[in-house]
Amino acid sequence: MNLRPAHEDDAAAVAGLSTQLGYPAVPDETAERLRSLAGHPDHAVLVAEDDSGDTRNVIAWIHIRGSHFVESAPFAEIAGLVVDERHRGQKIGEALVEAAARWARERDYATLRVRSNTIRERAHAFYERQGFTRIKTQVVLSRTL
Ligand SMILES: CC(C)(COP(=O)(O)OP(=O)(O)OC[C@H]1O[C@@H](n2cnc3c(N)ncnc32)[C@H](O)[C@@H]1OP(=O)(O)O)[C@@H](O)C(=O)NCCC(=O)NCCS
Repeated sequence: MNLRPAHEDDAAAVAGLSTQLGYPAVPDETAERLRSLAGHPDHAVLVAEDDSGDTRNVIAWIHIRGSHFVESAPFAEIAGLVVDERHRGQKIGEALVEAAARWARERDYATLRVRSNTIRERAHAFYERQGFTRIKTQVVLSRTL
């Protein structure tokens, strides 16, 4: 497995994985988002490639960002993480979380957070095994504009 920054050419694979995560996505929109995020120094999107065969297929992605608030110290946050369902349970997610922690330390963030839907119980166990602890449960509200 090889980890590297995502680029626009990864859009189709990244969109397919986003759909698996529960966010149906199409390549064009995903390419635009990857292009936009690449211009933000406080964001990183990394992909994992399967390098076991002749072709290198993207099988996972993680998005990490800095989060800045008036009321609390800045922290780094995993904004999204998904591993292809055919490749789960092979420590690829663990490697991506470690890469996120390295990214955050290099930028002097003291904390790495992740918000995860309450229904993703296996993912919560996955994060807790990697040293995350539960700090709160939130209600997320949205207003159409
Ligand atoms: C959670 C996830 C990123 C972990 O990546 P991974 O490479 O499978 O994880 P690892 O091999 O490092 O660790 C295995 C653990 O991941 C979790 N996991 C494995 N398959 C999973 C699945 N289908 N759904 C959710 N979690 C899963 C479990 O905690 C598993 O441990 P267990 O087998 O003892 O239950 C990956 O399973 C995934 O993409 N799940 C669906 C999307 C998701 O929940 N993303 C996190 C959003 S906050």
